[in-house]
Amino acid sequence: MKVAIGSDHGGFSLKGIILKFLMEKGHEVLDLGAHSPEPSDYPDFARAVSEAVTSGKAERGILICGSGVGASVAANKMPEIRAAVCHDTFSAHQGVEDDEMNVLCLGERIIGPELAKEIVLRFLSARFSGEERHVRRLEKVKAMEKDYMKC
Ligand code: RB5
Repeated sequence: MKVAIGSDHGGFSLKGIILKFLMEKGHEVLDLGAHSPEPSDYPDFARAVSEAVTSGKAERGILICGSGVGASVAANKMPEIRAAVCHDTFSAHQGVEDDEMNVLCLGERIIGPELAKEIVLRFLSARFSGEERHVRRLEKVKAMEKDYMKC
């Protein structure tokens, strides 16, 4: 799968680990920075990863900051992005199956690399169920975006 990945300084080290892991697993990874551990601003990477997903350059996005929170707050401001912090494997696949989450956010200061790898695998292998109730709920979420986000 084509995956866009980004982090600020708070997620820089884990980004490197996940990037290498994904490439070893055969994924095509687009590294959108940061490219150094110097202090940086998570919204810049949330924007870049989100744009890669909405433009079709990547099918899914992964954002890493210190907690995952700032990255998810920022990414959810972008049209068509459904981002969430998932620090457990259940949320990582159910978020895709039920809610069509397309950006996974992780906090390097919260979880270790081995759990992060498992979470990433569950996120990438999950698919939206397409079940009527989930489609209905998603349409309501999209209506909120349409009504309140002025592009
Ligand atoms: C950076 O210090 C930190 O605030 C950021 O990585 C992230 O945790 C924000 O949610």
